[in-house]
Amino acid sequence: LNATVTLDPAFRVAPVNRRTFGSFVEHLGRCVYTGIFEPDHPLADEDGLRKDVLDLTREMGVSLVRYPGGNFVSGYRWEDGVGPVAERPRRLDLAWHSTETNEFGLNEFARWAAKAGVEPMMAVNLGTRGVQEALDILEYSNHPSGTRLSDLRRRHGVADPHGFALWCLGNELDGPWQIGHKTAREYGRLAAETARAMRMIDPNLELVACGSSSSSMPTFGSWEADVLDEAFDYVDYISCHAYYQEHDGDMASFLASAVDMDHFIGSVVATADYVAAKKKSRKRIGISFDEWNVWYQTAHRDAGNPVDWPVAPRLLEDEYNVADAVVVGNLLISLLRHSDRVAAACQAQLVNVIGPIRSEPGGSAWRQTTFHPFAITSRLATGDVLQAEITSPATDTQRFGDVPVVDAVATYDDDAGDISVFLVNRSTADDVQVDLDARAIGPRRVVEAVGIHGDDLYASNTETAPDRITPQPNTSARLDDGGRLSVTLPKASWTALRLS
Ligand code: AHR
Repeated sequence: LNATVTLDPAFRVAPVNRRTFGSFVEHLGRCVYTGIFEPDHPLADEDGLRKDVLDLTREMGVSLVRYPGGNFVSGYRWEDGVGPVAERPRRLDLAWHSTETNEFGLNEFARWAAKAGVEPMMAVNLGTRGVQEALDILEYSNHPSGTRLSDLRRRHGVADPHGFALWCLGNELDGPWQIGHKTAREYGRLAAETARAMRMIDPNLELVACGSSSSSMPTFGSWEADVLDEAFDYVDYISCHAYYQEHDGDMASFLASAVDMDHFIGSVVATADYVAAKKKSRKRIGISFDEWNVWYQTAHRDAGNPVDWPVAPRLLEDEYNVADAVVVGNLLISLLRHSDRVAAACQAQLVNVIGPIRSEPGGSAWRQTTFHPFAITSRLATGDVLQAEITSPATDTQRFGDVPVVDAVATYDDDAGDISVFLVNRSTADDVQVDLDARAIGPRRVVEAVGIHGDDLYASNTETAPDRITPQPNTSARLDDGGRLSVTLPKASWTALRLS
């Protein structure tokens, strides 16, 4: 198969937004406990944080981390997780049928985030709680001193305010599984009032209203329209959540998952702009794609939640394969392509729970296959996003009809003269010969050409074979004097090129 990709500095979308490379730490399964936090681990630091997981988080190039949930936040009392650890209550976590010990809370997370070099993205509980508790956590976190809650934080050993700038107004309240599930109008009013009050403390906060839990929700579209009808003036962003998996051996559709993400983003942008038009407003609502990933949800539904109330059980511990890594790479291409509207994105989640990082209690930590496209894209995406003009053969898929075999996006840093190109080949049968025309920029050399592929799409990394799947050099890349490059994309593969 043959395809062409044309790059031109005139096709600029927007600057690369570092918040595209966000992740997510929820009190769920072993994401916090024995994931980022394990005081008894030989590699734990003075705060009980796992240094091996911190190192991998930094290596992955994560920029932003959402906390503390997720479904968990809709039943959470943030006060339980601050102050002397011995006095913190154990609570039932209804979302995941677990026991929450509260040994780890807001201030521990802020310390972890500082060590990981990531920006915190906080979430308030709008499931069982409301305006007052959102104001309380904001005052505790961000007010310097001289009030009951800011002085309480200081007594808890945190003299300087955290300065959390980005806040989610609840989580997935469109979902019947959510504690405190609401109609769009009920939630829209609550989000508006919470946001309005939070802005009375700090008008510069960046606030995210809950959008749909997936594009297949029965209320998708009308939920966004109704929520924004209520909250448009008070929020900056609306969230999108999407998880993908291979269903019943339909690899072709799975490899085309980014088609759904493109459609999802396009639909939510159109809906937000429709509300702007109705309100005669020039304001543009951004997208916070604050949960996205591959997640084998049907497998977990069969397994169900724990029947008793265990502490930090093994939940949602997906083992990712080569195909999953190709899809994750393609989802990042989709997010980058929409950088003019995607203000933040969080791969859900960071460690153990559908995570690109795995860790064993008392044992090692390792990179899943999906770690690699994330780390490489985060490292190479610099400067401005360029839309790639693609001509590609199509492949038929059960879920999405005909889709292009090749998808791609590029970034261009004109100060450094660096171009990065991210490509996927979605064909399970054929390699694709790509003719990449970058003559309008004129790169002189191939600095890096690397990718993920493999004859066995189901091969994965495990505790005993942590490096079975790693990025491999693509030795086919050839650049001529004028800026035309030819490269072969192996079947079912993800590839990154750095040209200079
Ligand atoms: O990331 C796992 C769960 O998926 C989150 O808790 C929830 O928000 C979503 O349904």
